[in-house]
This record gives sequence, structure tokens and C-alpha cells, in this order.
Amino acid sequence: MLCILSSDFLEYLNSLVSMLTWEWLKVSPAERTGMLQIVFRSQLTRLLSYVEIQRLCLAAAKNNSKAGVTGFAVECGGAFLVSIEGDAREVREMLNRIIQDPRHDTFDVVCCEEGIERRRFGTWAMNVMFLDDDLFWSRVFGADFSCDQLLSPRKMEPAFALGLLSMAYQYACAQAEMASSLSSGRAGRLPRIRHMFRR
Ligand SMILES: Cc1cc2nc3c(=O)[nH]c(=O)nc-3n(C[C@H](O)[C@H](O)[C@H](O)COP(=O)(O)O)c2cc1C
Repeated sequence: MLCILSSDFLEYLNSLVSMLTWEWLKVSPAERTGMLQIVFRSQLTRLLSYVEIQRLCLAAAKNNSKAGVTGFAVECGGAFLVSIEGDAREVREMLNRIIQDPRHDTFDVVCCEEGIERRRFGTWAMNVMFLDDDLFWSRVFGADFSCDQLLSPRKMEPAFALGLLSMAYQYACAQAEMASSLSSGRAGRLPRIRHMFRR
């Protein structure tokens, strides 16, 4: 009897293991990483000076660094487009904190991707690039981009948001002479003020 029970039990364990393995295999490697990227847009409730935004960015970078979160933002006329990425729980906690900040409102999550394989904007714990010069936009990003798209109340297309952040990020990394792709485990750096590009 004991023998029958234990062989049944073994069989049950066996099927459980193969089921779990199968479920695990069905999850793509990207989903197994537990890394989350959230891109949001918001508008300052009161215009801040460059220096105030630089201070905000530096304070954010220090917090992000402790939480292993990396981020990159562009700002134009008080509108922000921000990407934060890292461990899913840390990113969600950070986002809850950011949403409650009275310095901005009209908060909108443009896109959110769970299980990213590597950080897309991993160089800095948080850095900001100021994009309030239309000439600069057309020179660097081409005719399809202008500051108005950041300021427009219309829902922003995720592809547009990621494209814009990506181009600004590549530009900032090249200007700062820093690698744009880092291994996902490495924490982002604190930005230097001279790496928060105004143009
Ligand atoms: C557009 C925007 C983006 C922000 N991004 C971050 C961020 O990535 N990390 C962070 O810690 N704080 C960020 N902040 C600031 C937070 O909302 C909040 O003020 C800060 O986390 C409080 O930190 P403290 O308790 O150390 O003062 C952001 C604020 C704004 C307006």
C-alpha cells in the first residue's frame, strides 16, 4: 500500500515538475528578467528654471541609484517625457512616488513594458535633456519632430515617445562620450550638470 502510494506520489510530483517546467519554458526569456520600463508624460504646474530642473534631476538620480532604477527625460516648455526602468517592483514604487509630486500634473503613462531584456536608457540613474529650441529639434531629429508634439494634449504614440527618447539619449551619450548600452546589472551613473544638455 505504502509502495503504491509513494509511486503515485512520485508520479504526481513528476507531472507537477514537468508542468511547471513547461509553464516556465512558455515564458520568454524577456519576461523572466523582471525588468520593467515605464514611459510617462507630465506637465509642470509651475515653470521651473533650468537650475531647478537640474536639481530635481540630480535628486531623482540619487534616489534611483539606490533603487537600481535608471532613467532618462526630455523637457520642453514645462512638459516632460520620462523613461524609468529597472526591477519591476522598484519602478512601480518609484512611479507611485512621482505621481504624487505636486510640481507636475496631467500625468499620462505613454507605454509600459514588462520583461525587457536590457535597459534601453541605462547610462544614467536619471538624466534630462532640454529640448526647447525648435531649430535644434529639426537639426537633430529631423522635420517630423517639434516641441509642439511634447506639449500637445493629444495622446502620444508609444513609438513616437520611444523614438524621441532614444534619439535624445543617443545624442546625449555621444556628446558626453559615454556608452549608450550597458549590461542590465550595472547601476546608472549620477549625471554631471554639463551632461544635462540644453542644446
Ligand atoms: C517629471 C518628474 C520626474 C521625476 N522623476 C523622478 C525619478 O525618476 N526618481 C525620483 O526619485 N524622483 C523623481 N521625481 C521627483 C519625485 O516626484 C519626488 O519629488 C522625489 O522622489 C522625492 O524624493 P525625496 O523624498 O528624496 O525628496 C520626478 C519629478 C518630476 C516632476
